[in-house]
Amino acid sequence: MKRNRLNVNIAGLQLANPTILASGILGYSVATLQSIVEGGAGAVITKSVGLKPRQGYANPTVVQTKCGLINAMGLPNPGIDEFVNEIREAKTVLDVPLIVSVYGFSEEEYALAAKKAAGAGADALELNVSCPHVKETGSEIGQNSEILAEVVRKAKAAVSKPVFVKLAPNVTDIAEIAETAARAGADAITAINTVKAMAIDAETAMPILSNKKGGLSGQAIKPIAVRCVYEVYERVKIPIIGCGGVTDWRDAVEFLLAGASAVQIGTAIATKGPNVFKTVSSGVNTYLKRKGFRSVKEIVGLSHRN
Ligand code: DHB
Repeated sequence: MKRNRLNVNIAGLQLANPTILASGILGYSVATLQSIVEGGAGAVITKSVGLKPRQGYANPTVVQTKCGLINAMGLPNPGIDEFVNEIREAKTVLDVPLIVSVYGFSEEEYALAAKKAAGAGADALELNVSCPHVKETGSEIGQNSEILAEVVRKAKAAVSKPVFVKLAPNVTDIAEIAETAARAGADAITAINTVKAMAIDAETAMPILSNKKGGLSGQAIKPIAVRCVYEVYERVKIPIIGCGGVTDWRDAVEFLLAGASAVQIGTAIATKGPNVFKTVSSGVNTYLKRKGFRSVKEIVGLSHRN
């Protein structure tokens, strides 16, 4: 990798730049992951995969609002035993770190999905303990500190790769949850997953999504995500990956100043296309140069100084 001021190291993973494809967006096929890498992503994260295949919810699963997208897909995925083939193929073609997002309905399920993903070549795992609407997984795990700690411990014991823990914003104190994950051995915290939301159709007088409630993403949630990163940074020493509404370089810089070591981008791909990764990182580079910084690292958490 060519050394430059955009390089970052997250829990041992070397990234050419601090932009990462967020989980859930285009994350199943090697071809779409490749298009994101060509768009400039420093790493990619797959859509969440669990032990068994899941169909997901009936349509509609996505609704566009004035200020962002609400989705409730219902964790559709082919199951890890099928998905390992995609992971193996992805490893032969992608030249950036591949992070596999996993979920489960118990501590053991998270650990087994993580183990199988790592065995197929995943460079790191991201535990989805924050999906806002599927029963008995996601945020139901991430909101219970005892279960969360056990999920993280078991996943760490099952793999020798870095384990990221993606947290939900729909909680009273995200920093406390981050601390629980860090104590249990998490290598990094991703903050945040979507914000629990819904939309109702005035004509039919019914909720629009088939699942009624879903998760809001996009620009509307960025200030919430920045606040969460800021709070988590004050409590844990492990790296934080910012996620939520990053659309341009200024958003990315804001997350870095709040304490993130890198940012994930998802919803903005729908409006800006895969090249959003290049646009964001070249804007961050110009900012660093203009301000006289030699690396991304120099501005991580800079807004916390007194
Ligand atoms: C889904 C999962 C998530 O973690 C999320 O934030 C939103 C949607 C899903 O597959 O439905």
